[in-house]
Amino acid sequence: MDRVFYVTTPIYYVNAAPHIGHAYTTIVADFLARFHRLDGFDVFFLTGTDEHGEKIAEAARKAGLSPKAFVDQMSARFKAAWEKLEISYDDFIRTTEDRHKKVVQLVLQKVYDAGDIYYGEYEGLYCVGCERFLTEKELVDGKCPDHGIEPERRREGNYFFKMEKYRPWLRDHIEQHPEFIRPEGYRHEVLAMLAEPIGDLSISRPKTRTDWGIELPWDKDHVTYVWFDALVNYISALGYPEGERYKRYWPAANHMIGKDILKPHAVFWPTMLKAAGIPLYKHLNVGGYLLGPDGRKMSKTLGNVVDPFALVEKYGADAVRYYLLREVPYGQDGAVGEAGLKERYTSELANDLGNLVQRVRAMVQKYAGGRVARPEGVEESPLAKEAAEAVERYRGFVRDLRFHQALEEAILWVRRLNRHVNEEKPWELAKKGENDRLARVLYELVEGLRVASALLEPAMPGKMKVLRQALGLPKTTLAEAARFGTLAAAELPREAPQLFPRIEEKKTVTEEKTEQVPLIEFDDFMKLDLRIAEVKEAKKHPNADRLLVLTLDLGNETRTVVAGLAEHYAPEELTGKKVLYLANLKPKKLRGVLSQGMVLAAEGPDGRLSVLTPDRDLPPGAKVR
Ligand code: MSP
Repeated sequence: MDRVFYVTTPIYYVNAAPHIGHAYTTIVADFLARFHRLDGFDVFFLTGTDEHGEKIAEAARKAGLSPKAFVDQMSARFKAAWEKLEISYDDFIRTTEDRHKKVVQLVLQKVYDAGDIYYGEYEGLYCVGCERFLTEKELVDGKCPDHGIEPERRREGNYFFKMEKYRPWLRDHIEQHPEFIRPEGYRHEVLAMLAEPIGDLSISRPKTRTDWGIELPWDKDHVTYVWFDALVNYISALGYPEGERYKRYWPAANHMIGKDILKPHAVFWPTMLKAAGIPLYKHLNVGGYLLGPDGRKMSKTLGNVVDPFALVEKYGADAVRYYLLREVPYGQDGAVGEAGLKERYTSELANDLGNLVQRVRAMVQKYAGGRVARPEGVEESPLAKEAAEAVERYRGFVRDLRFHQALEEAILWVRRLNRHVNEEKPWELAKKGENDRLARVLYELVEGLRVASALLEPAMPGKMKVLRQALGLPKTTLAEAARFGTLAAAELPREAPQLFPRIEEKKTVTEEKTEQVPLIEFDDFMKLDLRIAEVKEAKKHPNADRLLVLTLDLGNETRTVVAGLAEHYAPEELTGKKVLYLANLKPKKLRGVLSQGMVLAAEGPDGRLSVLTPDRDLPPGAKVR
């Protein structure tokens, strides 16, 4: 029973095309679904579309389509979007399907029979954007805070659900079950809502206003209010009341939502369930809002809307998924944008992970004929203990909904492996003929990447498949990831694509740039004091991961240079090298160390830097002309 996990997204209104808010909520749910599958859970993952109500009928009219044709078309767009984002849902529910309508009517009838629905006149302030009546208190400057429009005053005959009656019960339930609504801040928000009367809930609309909805089973002149219709999707899709899926998965329900729909999920839904005699869901998990790169709410007028699908085209689905999960702590609002994505893509995905895979592959090919095998006693390696601890911390972070920290843990593990390369220096082991140790280190690196592939699988399922292929690795569960040394042997294919290739900016942009490089006079060139220098010593910068501190011999003097080479060279690889050096650059302190001049390097197509060395042996200090 506790190895069962049911995760849902909100079902999305089909009046708007899929955007980043939908994508984010769905990616989070997919991450959890994949994590639990990888951790041996029996998972059911549901998403879908919310297709009834005035707002949608209105959008169909504007599009010149019948409501049915319109919702079919829009719902298909959501499915296509989820395919692009590698969303691994098990079912996609549409509220216009018979299997759903049937259950909505059944639940309505149950609540009606229990005496919790009555008919009355209602007058209030209605926001069509929210599809609900708002209380005076919810308004900001007389407007709906989410839609920025003044709600309409409406008076009509409605059926009401006796929601207020369940308020004390719900408050007690939330107080006694601190994990019911997470993160904590939202739980308090709901308790505050429940501290005062919440009133009864209008749950019908007269057909004279709109007939695009599910009929009330006892009154054909009314259709169900959209929220009473939509929320039921979470059980209709499971085949409530008799379906095996319902019995199996409902007790393990985790709803993932955005904070704007907290009230319907935290107040309407539990009271509806209670009145219908249905057990409550297990957890309501509430995400914050993604904001534009400027930290403001995304809006077309501000021009700060981030299109996730354009980013997917350019960076790939996995990078976008990784970025959104890594960037914004779940539950909080956070600014996102292409610059941030690019930064993480380059530093964490291409440099930390992609380069490591390349390096390990190259070394295994060069020193071990493309094969590694488990050496005796590898479970005693310090890495074995660290891997088990990393997996445990990662699990804990995911269970606490700290997805950004879970991914940080994964990247720290990748960096740990990079350190292993730099500390063990396989090239030196090869030179010294220490073959056993070399074989062990190479195995540990491949095995370590197997662990990394499990930790990153829920966020980047596509890329992790490519990574496993590049290293000849099998798919790995989390339990197997925690057991370092599980891999018996691996044979690496000769060729493998680069995991995170450099992002090509649009051609035209670079071409323009090349033309714009200014021409200089010979005198300008002569101002440069370029020399050959010999690297006497190279060590890590004490305060910066990406920098190395080099001591250079210039023949008659010694200079210190801080160079951004730490991701491209292990310090010992540089020692003894003769390099091209710009000697008369103004000295500058870089992270606390004074840098005198600059070592020249060129960038390869994969973004790796290569330092420039003279073609023939030259003494330190030789002038470059
Ligand atoms: N149809 C209802 C949900 C019914 S569930 C029984 C609905 N649909 S929606 O399409 O308007 O929005 C669904 C989700 O998208 C909400 O959870 C909302 O929080 C999320 N997002 C919309 N914009 C968002 C951001 N900018 N950032 C993060 N999520 C936001 O509401």
